[in-house]
Amino acid sequence: MIDQAKQLREKMLQKSSKKPSRQTRVIAVTSGKGGVGKSNFALNFALSLTEQKKKVLIFDVDLGFANIDVLLGRSPEESIATLLDKDLSIWDIIEEGPKGLQFISGGTGFDEMFRLDETKMNKFFHEMSQLQGSVDYIILDTGAGLSYENMRFILAADDVILVTTPEPTSITDAYSVVKMVQAKDPNVHMALVVNQCTSDNEARATAENFKHVTAKFLNKEIGLLGSIPHDAIVPSAVKRQVPFVLAYPNSQAAHAMKKLAHGYLKLPVPYKLGLKGFLLKILFK
Ligand SMILES: Nc1ncnc2c1ncn2[C@@H]1O[C@H](COP(=O)(O)OP(=O)(O)O)[C@@H](O)[C@H]1O
Ligand SMILES: [Mg+2]
Repeated sequence: MIDQAKQLREKMLQKSSKKPSRQTRVIAVTSGKGGVGKSNFALNFALSLTEQKKKVLIFDVDLGFANIDVLLGRSPEESIATLLDKDLSIWDIIEEGPKGLQFISGGTGFDEMFRLDETKMNKFFHEMSQLQGSVDYIILDTGAGLSYENMRFILAADDVILVTTPEPTSITDAYSVVKMVQAKDPNVHMALVVNQCTSDNEARATAENFKHVTAKFLNKEIGLLGSIPHDAIVPSAVKRQVPFVLAYPNSQAAHAMKKLAHGYLKLPVPYKLGLKGFLLKILFK
């Protein structure tokens, strides 16, 4: 385990030394309602970014229903919780997934991270900071809804991807998230993903409607990042515990995801604070 961690650390440092100016952006994937497809989106989006030569780490911060490990068919022994409890380094708790995707599990008891004592807080900050410059993106798979913890993650990220389905219940819950975020910080950059749509038209109509309502009532412009069709291969991939972009690369859902990731990389999204700014905000604010 220790040797493996050392190798991983050296590999990541080598990669990062080629590009010393690499900025590490933190993207929070969230939703109002649960079960809309956030975790599947976060994981397959992350993999699609790695296919476009980006270094990506997915960090499972869904405190109640962490399941990125299940979607990957893995059961990691270490997590942020064990990093703090045992004397481990960040390199000991990173799992290597398919296509070089890195993955960190929150672990049980991770919710305590907002109530850590000073020593543990400093340790968490120090260990997480080492990832700065070693990956291009850290993708947070957050929980759903308006919990205190979720808001902290959302408000600290460089960029927020809000996932909804076309169902009115999912849309109104997504609206509630935007409302709460706006009340706390009107500068959070957010984009919408419509998942499980039955046609491009339905996705566009959902997004237009959402954009109109948030602009009118919350003074917030939220553009459509892209849409993923409802596709029976998604639950099949979940059952196989293989991410759908790998299990069914020629499916409609996989094509849509690749297109969306490609579009994301072309967007001129402002880099705000990066990883260190994120850590300072979740820990000390
Ligand atoms: N595009 C899609 N097409 C069909 N089913 C989907 C799609 N996206 C997600 N699902 C299904 O929705 C369920 C919830 O997905 P999940 O990613 O766990 O949601 P969340 O993380 O928001 O709770 C899963 O059973 C998954 O198979
Ligand atoms: Mg989930």
